[in-house]
Amino acid sequence: MGSLGTGDRPLRVAVVGSGPSGFYAAGHLLKSKSHPDLTAQVDVYDRLPTPWGLVRGGVAPDHPNIKAVSRVYEKTAAHPEFRFFGNVEYGRDLTHADLHERYHAVIYAVGAQTDRRLDIPGEDLPGSWAATEFVAWYNGHPDYRELEFDLSCERAVVIGNGNVAADVARMLALTREELAATDVADHALDVLADSGIREIVVLGRRGPAQAAFTNPELLELGEMTDADVVVDPRDAELDELSRGWLESEQASATARKNVEILGGYAGREPEGKRRRIVLRFLVSPLALLGESHVEGIRICRNELRDEGTGLRACTTETIEEIPCGIVFRSIGYRGIPLEGLPFDEGAGTIPHDGGRILDSDGAPLRGDYVVGWIKRGPTGIIGTNKRDAQETVDTLLADLDAGLLNEPPNPDREALEELLSERAPEHVTYEGWEAIDSAEKSAGEPHGRPRVKLTTTEELLDAARDRVR
Ligand SMILES: Cc1cc2nc3c(=O)[nH]c(=O)nc-3n(C[C@H](O)[C@H](O)[C@H](O)COP(=O)(O)OP(=O)(O)OC[C@H]3O[C@@H](n4cnc5c(N)ncnc54)[C@H](O)[C@@H]3O)c2cc1C
Ligand SMILES: NC(=O)c1ccc[n+]([C@@H]2O[C@H](COP(=O)([O-])OP(=O)(O)OC[C@H]3O[C@@H](n4cnc5c(N)ncnc54)[C@H](OP(=O)(O)O)[C@@H]3O)[C@@H](O)[C@H]2O)c1
Repeated sequence: MGSLGTGDRPLRVAVVGSGPSGFYAAGHLLKSKSHPDLTAQVDVYDRLPTPWGLVRGGVAPDHPNIKAVSRVYEKTAAHPEFRFFGNVEYGRDLTHADLHERYHAVIYAVGAQTDRRLDIPGEDLPGSWAATEFVAWYNGHPDYRELEFDLSCERAVVIGNGNVAADVARMLALTREELAATDVADHALDVLADSGIREIVVLGRRGPAQAAFTNPELLELGEMTDADVVVDPRDAELDELSRGWLESEQASATARKNVEILGGYAGREPEGKRRRIVLRFLVSPLALLGESHVEGIRICRNELRDEGTGLRACTTETIEEIPCGIVFRSIGYRGIPLEGLPFDEGAGTIPHDGGRILDSDGAPLRGDYVVGWIKRGPTGIIGTNKRDAQETVDTLLADLDAGLLNEPPNPDREALEELLSERAPEHVTYEGWEAIDSAEKSAGEPHGRPRVKLTTTEELLDAARDRVR
């Protein structure tokens, strides 16, 4: 028999999670530049019947060009040694031992499945939502379709200054015509289009120079068809520490440009559009107010202090209350632990060295690798995962060369299919996904929409079966 990774002994790898990081990892393995003669077989699993992770369930519906990155993943999926198994959940349908019995290596690419908490009073009042929930709902994630967002109030508050907060603010401000041209979930379309919200207040705990928005996303907020962007000139003004930092070599071009854009917004006269997006800085939420539902938010003014590790927001005694009927907490996603694997509770990530998973003593776990948000934490754009996946795959292939991979007793493909037919008989293959994809696109076509998403597991499985039957 030849060595592992050659013709008669293919390298068998399972990738758990089919978002950008999982697909890039699969792509790097199937077309390895460092190992051009490698024969690898890659099986990608996802707990959902559909692939692409946050490209389908996170990226805002009014950003169709970004979703087009899925074409790259389609090319990977077309490789003869690639297989997809949707509707198969690690921890529910498959265990660590199941995978280790069948694969030389497993790459965990499960992303960050929950939200960070503010830990302030009132956080769990009805009307207080994690942005993660709102985003998943308007994008048609099957686990979130039953949520009911009451957008009948006049003012919404969005906490956080990242691109997800920008997405949430924009989605609350789009017109019916704009929404109707997107793949926003049907159950969200009418709710968003009929929203009574007239003002969306976005709260940043630090200043304009520290906002985490990227430039195009911040610019977009100033180009809304039916919403004025409003920045109080006092809010756009930089404190002394930020001014010094911005002039230093440490300041990024993005931060400099953001400050310039925000200065421009502060100088604008509102045009009297139907809605306003108000950007506030240097304020932190102290409590969400209300008896049985959110009625307001108490915030305090912050000042920045240099504590050696960057400029930190520190609270002051200046307090204010903003009446509002709904709050979206957009302060970041968070990873959750996986059965049988170590977890860093503080960071919400799986500990690793160059992608090789480490146990609590810092020793590598044979055959276990990690990639994407569950490896790095919940930051970075889609492209960041490509480089990240390269690092993990390089580590895995170095372990292949060194004979350090897992030695599965049963590395044959048919054995896996048998296991799946027992544990996850309703799994969706790539052909099944193509059937879903084509059903959704056909439903969208007559309405000039990219697709009409199927949003229950049942509908998705029915559509998948139509083609495969
Ligand atoms: C709201 C939002 C909007 C964004 N918009 C943009 C944008 O416009 N442009 C941009 O460049 N970047 C954007 N990003 C960032 C980008 O989406 C991420 O960098 C990227 O998706 C992270 O990839 P990932 O593979 O680590 O995780 P994910 O994309 O989250 O993929 C993880 C996958 O793992 C699956 N999974 C989870 N648990 C299990 C399990 N137990 N068993 C099996 N499968 C499992 C999930 O179903 C999911 O499909 C956005 C992020 C968010 C949150
Ligand atoms: N169009 C796009 O390209 C796009 C769209 C969406 C998301 N993404 C990417 O996806 C990643 C995740 O985005 P994200 O917006 O979830 O995260 P993010 O960029 O990390 O932003 C999180 C924001 O929450 C703030 N925050 C954290 N804890 C807080 C607290 N306790 N109180 C108040 N504010 C708090 C942070 O402020 P501090 O800075 O002070 O910590 C920051 O402004 C990012 O890399 C983003 O660029 C990209």
